[in-house]
Amino acid sequence: METKIIDGTGLARQVREEWRERARALAGRGCRPGLAVLIVGDDPASKAYVRNKVRACAELGLRSDHIELPAATSEDELLARIAGLNADPGIHGVLVQLPLPKHIASERVIEAIAPEKDVDGFHPLNVGLLATGHPRFAPCTPAGIMLMLEREGIDPWGQNAVILGASNIVGKPMALLLLQRGATVTLCNSKTRDLAAHTRAADILIAAVGRPNLVTGGMVKPGAVVIDVGINRLPDGKLAGDVDTRSVMGVASRVTPVPGGVGPMTVTMLVVNAVLAAERACADEAKTEDRER
Ligand code: GUN
Repeated sequence: METKIIDGTGLARQVREEWRERARALAGRGCRPGLAVLIVGDDPASKAYVRNKVRACAELGLRSDHIELPAATSEDELLARIAGLNADPGIHGVLVQLPLPKHIASERVIEAIAPEKDVDGFHPLNVGLLATGHPRFAPCTPAGIMLMLEREGIDPWGQNAVILGASNIVGKPMALLLLQRGATVTLCNSKTRDLAAHTRAADILIAAVGRPNLVTGGMVKPGAVVIDVGINRLPDGKLAGDVDTRSVMGVASRVTPVPGGVGPMTVTMLVVNAVLAAERACADEAKTEDRER
């Protein structure tokens, strides 16, 4: 079987092109979308992700405030910054890059973000909306994967979808989105017995565990679609996904590369969520003005 490598970079470029117009239309109505991206500390990988996010915003003409805080920032200081951004009408989306330093409780920080500005979709209210089938903001990585599947003509309806890794950022919301689209979902975790028995049953296999080259050709059902969310830095400095791409070639029908697969889609969905947040905020504002007139 010939395996197609899905071009995430190209797909992401197309999607951004489509959303550029919506961002421009909003700006024309005096509602230029604004996103605040906060990072605490100087983890090099996190800093690189944040730079990509800020760059994507600029590309679509969004306002983006890049706020870099020292690793020693207290939880109270961070919460105060978030309160300021929640109250700023020019900011429609607030993102705090994770992981946070250990002395800061991420749940408290996430809960402090106004749910209508929570473009990551991590606030418990937004998690609940997603779980009950009424998503307001779908988390960016799983949302990017859903869009990628759609653009590739892959319908999850009735398919076996197997997800490796049950994180709040990827695995759990991924399971909910696929479930909503009619897939039969298996969510594996580090305690799963006989992982390969599960992966071999997958029509759609999504690896998001952070273990380089965990998924090999022998674990993949012939013709399956394999989505690689892992970004692992090897000792020699090279990047590796969670999938041993070379070994699944000839087995899978499609596979996403690392880099250039899921990553660019994730960043794109953040911009999409920021534009959606601005559209909603500005529609609400217009309604209020109508009422006051
Ligand atoms: N760290 C890794 N992925 C993400 C993400 O999607 N959002 C945030 N805020 N932090 C992350």
